[in-house]
Amino acid sequence: MTDATPSLPPLAFLGAGSMGGAILRGLVAAGLTGGGVTATNRSAAKAAELAELEGVTSVALETAPDANVAAAASADVVLIGVKPAMVPDLLDEIAPHLRPGAVVVSLAAGVTLATFAKHLGEGVATLRSMPNTPSLVGKGVTGLAAGAAATADDVALVRALFETVGQVVEVPESRIDALSTISGSGPAYVFLLIEEFTKAAVRMGFDVDAARLLAEQTFIGATALLASADVDPAELRRRVTSPKGTTERAVAVLQAARLDDTFTAAAEAALARAKELAAGA
Ligand SMILES: NC(=O)c1ccc[n+]([C@@H]2O[C@H](COP(=O)([O-])OP(=O)(O)OC[C@H]3O[C@@H](n4cnc5c(N)ncnc54)[C@H](OP(=O)(O)O)[C@@H]3O)[C@@H](O)[C@H]2O)c1
Repeated sequence: MTDATPSLPPLAFLGAGSMGGAILRGLVAAGLTGGGVTATNRSAAKAAELAELEGVTSVALETAPDANVAAAASADVVLIGVKPAMVPDLLDEIAPHLRPGAVVVSLAAGVTLATFAKHLGEGVATLRSMPNTPSLVGKGVTGLAAGAAATADDVALVRALFETVGQVVEVPESRIDALSTISGSGPAYVFLLIEEFTKAAVRMGFDVDAARLLAEQTFIGATALLASADVDPAELRRRVTSPKGTTERAVAVLQAARLDDTFTAAAEAALARAKELAAGA
């Protein structure tokens, strides 16, 4: 946060599960819930998980069936964090109750701005976001695409909101699915690499605890080094790789496995699936 960051107005999180909850917790940790936040979930159990958060009113539909309408009516920024298939019904429910000038922010993968406009009306300022789960620890990357009715001030406000939990990249909506194949799904790729790296350590004869420590701390340490250094990963890799040394041999094996093609194919598979989902498959 900088002094230039606008303070946040009253917020509503309609559906605060893994993703909505991560962003909500990030805002609380940053001390930015002073404008008031209402979070809704279906079950009382889920609502109870958020009840202790500073500045957050956590409500369950189970006990307050009109909670989404009440929360939407009380907020200047309404974040939609339910599963994609549930979004249209939720929008129909809240549309008549939005405040004039309210900004609606979608967290839902694959739901287009056109769908939002159809259910809320063309005049409602809407932005589509694609956050990722490291938002929970303030290290997220969020892609942001603004709808036609969103003003520059609306975009700045929503950008500031997501910047409390990481970095923001603004893109046209046509690039959101492509962005999602990298940063949205990306944490899963990284965890898979760590899983496989840990298995290699076990095969080298370490017990599981030691293998996890070696593999996980190496990833955490290497990424912290990357974050702290003003050099690119290729240069940092070269600094570990003495000519004719052991690392050079290992890296040659990894490169022979064509990680470049594999990562491209993985991203293309994710993009193809996004298109299938958009077509209702
Ligand atoms: N997880 C990710 O990495 C990720 C990344 C980018 C985008 N997203 C998007 O984020 C959205 C949520 O995904 P998620 O992984 O956070 O799912 P999730 O953990 O299941 O969260 C959805 C939440 O919505 C609540 N809910 C269900 N129906 C509701 C209703 N009518 N009104 C209010 N709340 C309701 C659920 O409460 P109950 O559990 O009590 O039913 C649940 O806590 C999706 O649209 C997804 O595309 C997720």
